[in-house]
Amino acid sequence: MTDTLTLRRPDDWHLHLRDGAMLRAVLPESARDFARAIIMPNLVPPVVTGADAARYRDRILAALPEGSGFTPLMTLYLTEETDPADVAAAHANGLITAVKLYPAGATTNSASGVSNFDNVRGVLETMAEIGLPLCFHGEVTDPSVDIFDREDVFLDTVLDPLRRATPGLKVTLEHVTTSQGVDYITQADGEIAGTITTHHLMINRNHILAGGIRPHYYCLPVAKRATHQEALRRAATSGNPRFFLGTDSAPHLDAAKETACGCAGCFTATNTLSCLAHVFEEEGALDRLEGFTSLNGPAHYGLPANEDTITLVKSATPVDYPAQIATPNGPVTLFDPGHPLFWRVT
Ligand code: NCD
Ligand code: ZN
Repeated sequence: MTDTLTLRRPDDWHLHLRDGAMLRAVLPESARDFARAIIMPNLVPPVVTGADAARYRDRILAALPEGSGFTPLMTLYLTEETDPADVAAAHANGLITAVKLYPAGATTNSASGVSNFDNVRGVLETMAEIGLPLCFHGEVTDPSVDIFDREDVFLDTVLDPLRRATPGLKVTLEHVTTSQGVDYITQADGEIAGTITTHHLMINRNHILAGGIRPHYYCLPVAKRATHQEALRRAATSGNPRFFLGTDSAPHLDAAKETACGCAGCFTATNTLSCLAHVFEEEGALDRLEGFTSLNGPAHYGLPANEDTITLVKSATPVDYPAQIATPNGPVTLFDPGHPLFWRVT
């Protein structure tokens, strides 16, 4: 039985760090195991310009634990007013790694996102020319579309036409949650990849809704039925380089989750690698974990894989994770996979 696993140090290709006290509380949880992360720009107000991203990067660097080598990879939040020249300048001076597109109203803090895709055509064409990747939140926002169908409908009505209209645009379909999303990424021509979250590999919609409503499993895109979870597990463990880890670790105060209208987001930064080793072992694919966490992402983004390594060890007794992370404004509950975890990062 394998009980030790050494991997190139992982990166997180989709992470919410927030700002202020929350940033200071959650950043060490990612910086401990990960070398780099794509930092989501959905602050209030969002990170829209190169100047915003430079200031946010400085706040993240200032909040890092002493001696940490963690590198935040910054993104800009695409709005219908985004200036292509500002995007190109932020890319040219190495400030940003990607641009994030939220369909307006799709998720937490997405009100300034895109409603009319014609209004961002110029920016997308510039991005295709300069080789700057687009990170796409893949859900339609039409209220008449069932929430469990919003990713599937997005593929044919938004993603595919947009990619055809902008040849050469490198796209990351963020947090894939459906078998249709997996099939699209697997079969599409051109430069496309999909991130998969930790929690979508471990839960399906029954975990949210059966036997009582569990707000800490509520995230967007919402987890789908078990057949989709199985498709995600197959994709993540397939070795296909188009799939890699984006935790979408998205902290919210417990008070904002455990309420009549709770926020979307699962906080997985602390135990993600234990969870992933558990899933990959269950799938008989521990030898493919490194590709998913540490190799496929850098290859898609045109960056070198990390040189240093981490080691995971499997023990007979469960890893003792805290139930919550403390912040000055109240606790943030850590994702609970619903069963013990035995792999830990040494
Ligand atoms: C994210 C957040 O809280 O910012 N929430 C979530 O459920 N994933 C936003 C997002 O990535 O959709
Ligand atoms: Zn997210």
